Amino acid sequence: MQKDKIFSKPLSTVRPFQFDENVARVFPDMISRSVPGYDLILTVLESITEKYVQEGSNLYDLGCSLGASTLAMMHGINKKNCRIIAVDNSRPMVDKAKSTLDLYHSPAEIQLVCDDLRNINMENASVVVMNFTLQFIEPENRRKILRDIYKGLMPGGVLVLSEKICFEDNNQQALNDELHLNFKKQQGYSNLEISQKRSSLENVLIRDTLETHEKRIREVGFSVFEMWFRCYNFVSMLAVK
Ligand SMILES: C[S@@+](CC[C@H](N)C(=O)[O-])C[C@H]1O[C@@H](n2cnc3c(N)ncnc32)[C@H](O)[C@@H]1O
Repeated sequence: MQKDKIFSKPLSTVRPFQFDENVARVFPDMISRSVPGYDLILTVLESITEKYVQEGSNLYDLGCSLGASTLAMMHGINKKNCRIIAVDNSRPMVDKAKSTLDLYHSPAEIQLVCDDLRNINMENASVVVMNFTLQFIEPENRRKILRDIYKGLMPGGVLVLSEKICFEDNNQQALNDELHLNFKKQQGYSNLEISQKRSSLENVLIRDTLETHEKRIREVGFSVFEMWFRCYNFVSMLAVK
């Protein structure tokens, strides 16, 4: 795994974060050293897929990056005639995902699509995963995406939504930010890397509170909402139609 050193040298200008070739090259290292619990979330995605996948259905991985969650879903498929549609609008991510996914004998057909996830017409879905992707979409567009997911799901279908969140309460915000900062230091990131990456993500990764997520998920029609994972300011939620 190539080590993430993208922000290790002082940069004269810190540009807005992009999922480009450089990020794609180091992405597995970057995400596992930045998101506490990332590997656990992938493990659980497999068992959530096992529980909710339906025969002859579609499974969507929206913002699939290098296909880590696609693979977790693939391993969880225990029903016939399923298809995974994995979508990302970053060409370098999709190209790398293709070479990884090609190494596996999948029990389900896998379609990799390089496009904006908002252009995907979802239908006949049993499992939809957005693993740390919605946070990169303009907040005013998030409700429509959730509505489209709800419409595309079959009754009993599940959405798994993982996000970095913020807090209404300043003390809670400060505590969770500090604990996350300590996690990144433990993972070997320097103060310079942490602060340059933070600037780069400003206005690119826009967090909602847990309450905003739950309210929006319930408002579009989901009957079950569960926050099944949380570590500091990272959560994974599950919603059932
Ligand atoms: C943090 S990564 C997702 C990680 C991945 N789901 C995983 O589990 O490893 C966010 C991904 O969302 C993609 N993305 C952001 N906005 C998108 C959009 N509007 N349509 C499609 N993909 C998008 C980015 O290119 C990036 O690869």
